[in-house]
Amino acid sequence: KKKKITVIGSINMDLVTKVSRIPMVGETVMGESFYTTPGGKGANQAVAAARLGADVSMIGGVGDDVFGRELIANLKSHSIDVTKVGIFPGISTGIASITLSGGDNSIIVTPGANHLVTTDYLLKHKEAIAASDCVILQLEIPMETVMMAASIAKNHGARVILNPAPFHQLPEQLLNDVDYLTPNEHEQKQLLLSLTERRKEDIAKKCIVTKGSRGVAIYKDGEEEIPGYRVEAADTTGAGDTFNGALAFALSEGFGLKEACRFANAAAALSVTKLGAQGGMPTRGEVEDLMESSAKNKS
Ligand code: RIB
Ligand code: NA
Repeated sequence: KKKKITVIGSINMDLVTKVSRIPMVGETVMGESFYTTPGGKGANQAVAAARLGADVSMIGGVGDDVFGRELIANLKSHSIDVTKVGIFPGISTGIASITLSGGDNSIIVTPGANHLVTTDYLLKHKEAIAASDCVILQLEIPMETVMMAASIAKNHGARVILNPAPFHQLPEQLLNDVDYLTPNEHEQKQLLLSLTERRKEDIAKKCIVTKGSRGVAIYKDGEEEIPGYRVEAADTTGAGDTFNGALAFALSEGFGLKEACRFANAAAALSVTKLGAQGGMPTRGEVEDLMESSAKNKS
């Protein structure tokens, strides 16, 4: 039986402008091209897991507008259960204004409907959370909602993965309720700063720190690096999301932690070869091909 993954998080339309360089304050630069493409950390992680073959359901919210309808259709096209995605009137769908320059990006997120994913809204879907094998969370919806989701999941024996992005201080209870934290290096620094010496060690054991093309680090007994895969990067937007979705999938398939990280590293690498946060998110077969061919190259 397929394991159930529930993603509770943001759904955005990404408004992407490609530029030769990112403007400084007060400066105007000419854009090279513009496109809209589905994004939002929650939706991206849901699509990543679904592309790999997971049974995914999404809890989140959009506005009653064109972007909202497009984003729901997009999730559906990946066979994601959208019956728990609310359509909230009178507010705009979340958007991310992304400036792409080379492989780098800078992002402004305006949450809109994502902020209406409240604890009251979440409670309507308590059953679905309780019935999940794995719950994935990020920080683009209200913190109280994330906390409640983690606590319901934990109480019902679901594995909880929290991608602490964009970074916010994490309440003690939330840290206790999660099984895995997946900060990038920047978020990891902020996370450690907010902890006492004694807590640092416990929390580090839950951390899988993503380091872009260098792969990830885990801290079982001391730091251990699990190297990434080298690819030609077209757009790194959503690489971390692909990692999280793939990690949830691989752990749900029963992979050990290191093997799951290797698998998720390969999935993330493939995703950056195509434009758009969700563009390039691979199938399971594509991930396995990359892992095999790079193993051959080494021997
Ligand atoms: O992680 C990438 C995502 O962050 C983008 O798709 C954008 O919507 C922002 O939420
Ligand atoms: Na991509």
